[in-house]
Amino acid sequence: MYDYLIVGAGLFGSVFAYEAKKRGKKCLVIDKRDHIGGNIYTEKIEGINVHKYGAHIFHTNNERIWDYVNGFTKFNRYTNSPIANYKGELYNLPFNMNTFNTLWGVVSPDEAKAKIEQQKTVAGITEPKNLEEQAISLVGTDIYEKLIKGYTEKQWGRSARELPAFIIKRLPVRFTYDNNYFNDQYQGIPIGGYTTIIEKMLEGIEVKLNVDFFEQRQELESLANKVVYTGMIDQYFDYKFGVLEYRSLHFETKVIDDTTNYQGNAVINYTDKETPYTRIIEHKHFEFGTQDKTIITEEYPSEWKPGDEPYYPINDDKNNETYKKYKALAENEPKVIFGGRLATYKYYDMHQVIGSALVTVEKEFDQ
Ligand code: FDA
Repeated sequence: MYDYLIVGAGLFGSVFAYEAKKRGKKCLVIDKRDHIGGNIYTEKIEGINVHKYGAHIFHTNNERIWDYVNGFTKFNRYTNSPIANYKGELYNLPFNMNTFNTLWGVVSPDEAKAKIEQQKTVAGITEPKNLEEQAISLVGTDIYEKLIKGYTEKQWGRSARELPAFIIKRLPVRFTYDNNYFNDQYQGIPIGGYTTIIEKMLEGIEVKLNVDFFEQRQELESLANKVVYTGMIDQYFDYKFGVLEYRSLHFETKVIDDTTNYQGNAVINYTDKETPYTRIIEHKHFEFGTQDKTIITEEYPSEWKPGDEPYYPINDDKNNETYKKYKALAENEPKVIFGGRLATYKYYDMHQVIGSALVTVEKEFDQ
């Protein structure tokens, strides 16, 4: 008999398994995929660690979490400085003095602020009613038209005028010449890829891949005293209150033989409406790779339907209300712990998943 059956070998399930084992508990980890790591999985191809589920950059302000992940592997000094490509014009992100200088030729922060203020005034929006109005009221029309509109409309599959304003409550605008995307104190990429971290967490723990919890539910549940469930919460309850909606993505990865350096940066966003993908990732740049070849991945947003890979929860009122009902049921399942992005219907960065797994561990074992 196992103490815990852990459904999902992603970051949440793996942190929990590691901590439970440390406390002498016996765990069985299952995953329906053919690999561990969930969405942070990296696979070595041509000597390059490929981020199979999109670009993953670790960043946090929490020293305890930074020390925790560094206990599994060393991190490099990678700093995320994405570039926006709008019809061949290149701009630095997040919006900062480099962006404003390229866009308007302004040099001082006061000139940049004046330009944005002037555009906001001309637009005359007092109460933004949709994403377009919200963006213009925050950064003016030029940035909206070139760097936000097309990208956001591709991302969400609908017009920015039909999207709710709340999606962009704030926009990262910086009046310094600083291209570092994140404000966090700690940032980097694990040397050797993310899969190494998960391998270390799961060392000495029984893991079964290609096992879908719902295909052998009763049998699997009978193997353990408790279940840690990191799959979709609506599926756990047989969709009885309806399906929670997501936005999906698909990735096209290509090995490029005839150049060692395809785009000169790890992440380039394509912000026009016409280019069908939202970004191209060149994986070797996450680790300052010097391999003979290079590997790129185009990221295409797509509509989600049940059965597709769920990536971004659509946290609008309707879905949040439905989630609340599932959450209430989950709270009445004493032998099941629900955790991670799918079971809590929430977008989490990696440091947040680790933080929430460690809080769960403390509640389970130390209180
Ligand atoms: P995750 O989805 O990884 O794990 C759940 C596991 O459960 C999966 O392996 C799944 O197969 C398994 N499972 C589900 N149902 C099952 C069933 N019925 N039976 C068996 N197994 C089942 N974060 C960050 O900090 N920096 C970044 O740059 C990025 N970038 C990024 C890009 C993109 C495109 C996305 C979508 C996300 C990010 N993230 C990120 C977020 C990051 O991916 C996320 O925080 C973690 O992967 C979440 O880990 P979980 O364990 O919660 O879920």
